[in-house]
Amino acid sequence: MNSSLQEAINDQIQAEFFSAYLYLSMSAYCTESNLTGFAGWMRLQAQEEVSHGMRLVTFMQNRGAPVLLQALGEPPHDFGSPLEIMQASLQHERSVTDRIHKLYAMAVEAGDYPAQVEFQWFISEQVEEEATIDEIVQRLKMFGTDGTALLLVDGQLGDRATEEDAE
Ligand code: FEO
Repeated sequence: MNSSLQEAINDQIQAEFFSAYLYLSMSAYCTESNLTGFAGWMRLQAQEEVSHGMRLVTFMQNRGAPVLLQALGEPPHDFGSPLEIMQASLQHERSVTDRIHKLYAMAVEAGDYPAQVEFQWFISEQVEEEATIDEIVQRLKMFGTDGTALLLVDGQLGDRATEEDAE
């Protein structure tokens, strides 16, 4: 694997683990705000981000490329309203998507077919993540500040956490 691609994937490993940190911080904030369903959902997101980071670690190792872990920054601790939390998640995922697209373009440029296949998985994953979060944002916007509706969304997000825990 060429060295600039190795460096970019190591940067992406950091970005995935930072995403986990960010979602875990959102989860903690939601727990403190008594949004139990949101908190469970964010906690699962954090676990997914860890699995993305691990996936890239394995990919690098399978290719005989060095894994150089980098420091993680401190995530924010205050995220505002439930709508603002979800909007921040969506914005974050869009920035991750941009990163993945750049990585894919680099892999194409380098003629690195295995890396292209690997990033295709991430491209599809990002489409899914953005769609899921956008749906929640739209629902929250629709309900405005209606407390009952918010509790309903919180319950639905909590269901995902319970379902995936049972799998
Ligand atoms: Fe690892 Fe949320 O993308």
